[in-house]
Amino acid sequence: MRYSFTLGAAAFAFATAAPVTSPSNSSIWVTEVPTSVRPYAIQHYLAGGCVVGQQIYRFPVTGPSSDYAFSLIQTNAPGSTALGVLPHLHEVHYENFFNFRGRFQLWTDKYDDQNTRVLLPGDYGAVPHNTTHTFQILDPDTEMLGVIQPGGFENLFYALSSGNYSSTTLSPYDPSANASSDSAAGPSASLIATLEGFDVYAQPDFSPRYDAINGTAPSNTTWHTGSNALATDAYTPYFVAKDYGPKYLNSQNGYQVIQPFVTATQSASNFTLSTITTDRVSSNTTVPTRTFVGHAAFEVLEGQLQVEMLGEKLSLLQGDVVFIPRNTSYIYYSEVAYTKFMHVGQGGEGLDSALIAAGESWDSPVWPTS
Ligand SMILES: *[C@@H]1O[C@H](CO)[C@@H](O)[C@H](O)[C@H]1NC(C)=O
Ligand SMILES: *[C@@H]1O[C@H](CO)[C@@H](O)[C@H](O)[C@H]1NC(C)=O
Ligand SMILES: *[C@@H]1O[C@H](CO)[C@@H](O)[C@H](O)[C@H]1NC(C)=O
Ligand SMILES: *[C@@H]1O[C@H](CO)[C@@H](O)[C@H](O)[C@H]1NC(C)=O
Ligand SMILES: *[C@@H]1O[C@H](CO)[C@@H](O)[C@H](O)[C@H]1NC(C)=O
Ligand SMILES: *[C@@H]1O[C@H](CO)[C@@H](O)[C@H](O)[C@H]1NC(C)=O
Ligand SMILES: *[C@@H]1O[C@H](CO)[C@@H](O)[C@H](O)[C@H]1NC(C)=O
Ligand SMILES: *[C@@H]1O[C@H](CO)[C@@H](O)[C@H](O)[C@H]1NC(C)=O
Ligand SMILES: *[C@@H]1O[C@H](CO)[C@@H](O)[C@H](O)[C@H]1NC(C)=O
Repeated sequence: MRYSFTLGAAAFAFATAAPVTSPSNSSIWVTEVPTSVRPYAIQHYLAGGCVVGQQIYRFPVTGPSSDYAFSLIQTNAPGSTALGVLPHLHEVHYENFFNFRGRFQLWTDKYDDQNTRVLLPGDYGAVPHNTTHTFQILDPDTEMLGVIQPGGFENLFYALSSGNYSSTTLSPYDPSANASSDSAAGPSASLIATLEGFDVYAQPDFSPRYDAINGTAPSNTTWHTGSNALATDAYTPYFVAKDYGPKYLNSQNGYQVIQPFVTATQSASNFTLSTITTDRVSSNTTVPTRTFVGHAAFEVLEGQLQVEMLGEKLSLLQGDVVFIPRNTSYIYYSEVAYTKFMHVGQGGEGLDSALIAAGESWDSPVWPTS
């Protein structure tokens, strides 16, 4: 395969791809999340984390590893009959909930408009600043993927935790952890009231509605039955069911379908968040080199993603995360038929917005047959 690289003004063509590396022989693969900004990749479940009741929180991107651009949080837990956290809001952190596996319910309340949705894998909920919210884990093996901007919010979970999580078998969570509602519900009301220094403002008067029908309330909402629009401002909470949000087709180098959850409009240009689904690279495709002014992270959702940077070829599987610092040149492509990844970018102009700008509005989650 030939890939052409453009670095500054010079163009190079490599007859072979960069060598494939693994955590044993790489300067990019790590087994611990770095404490300063550098290019890195980390496999699913290797990121350090902590225990909060029955929930395990892992942080593949942290404040220090992203220069406080954003944090990525993977939460693994069994289902619970209790809320996963007491209702609260954040004044400076924008929180994003994505269902990676299993099932959970999310409640949001702003402007006296309380909404709830049951999120299936691939579903998304936006929790802008000053939105009261809470969640409940419903299915036995659930993994939530959280993106919080700015970064550093993991400090809260370390403060709440009963200890750091360790498992020699890399179990997602501890199946023997007690299901007592005390631990399952996380911190008590008196503890959460001490957490304002972490930008957590308890909302003890919030009463979650339990009148959802077919996964949604109020009843005038659309959930897995029709399209979901993104908010038209940076303040209003919203939900996007998998494949029911806006979609774009980019046909520049093979096919990619971009499904934005957050664009510059919803984040006031603070970050962008999307899924990108790509077809298999063909032997005559020139994979373009990408460089952006903001930090970025990808988490693979399906398939296998190849990322080449700094002379190494990284092969990422589901749940693996790569962090690409600003101004780092890289290429990415799929060698399998269908690869989907979550893209988080700092600022308003990342890979997702570039692909959308060069693409077209598209009404399907899959690409054309030829
Ligand atoms: C790195 O290790 C992997 C797995 O052990 C191996 O397949 C690969 O060839 C190695 N790459 C280099 C450049 O040594
Ligand atoms: C959130 O609310 C606080 C307190 O009212 C206010 O200072 C802050 O500007 C609000 N944040 C946003 C992004 O609106
Ligand atoms: C838990 O992990 C954090 C982050 O890696 C670290 O700063 C802290 O020292 C650890 N705590 C313990 C008790 O090992
Ligand atoms: C569960 O609770 C019992 C009784 O309180 C305690 O002995 C045990 O250590 C707990 N197990 C875990 C994993 O915390
Ligand atoms: C819930 O879903 C069922 C099955 O699709 C449907 O028949 C029913 O009308 C839905 N109820 C509401 C209130 O939408
Ligand atoms: C749905 O009803 C609520 C009141 O329950 C109202 O505040 C909201 O604006 C309505 N939403 C839509 C999309 O009609
Ligand atoms: C965007 O980020 C700036 C700087 O961190 C912050 O002051 C502002 O509240 C954020 N606004 C939104 C809507 O995210
Ligand atoms: C590129 O390769 C594909 C098959 O892999 C083929 O269908 C297509 O015609 C080729 N395009 C060009 C420009 O050669
Ligand atoms: C980006 O990288 C290029 C080449 O390494 C360097 O010349 C340039 O100063 C960098 N720009 C920024 C904003 O760091």
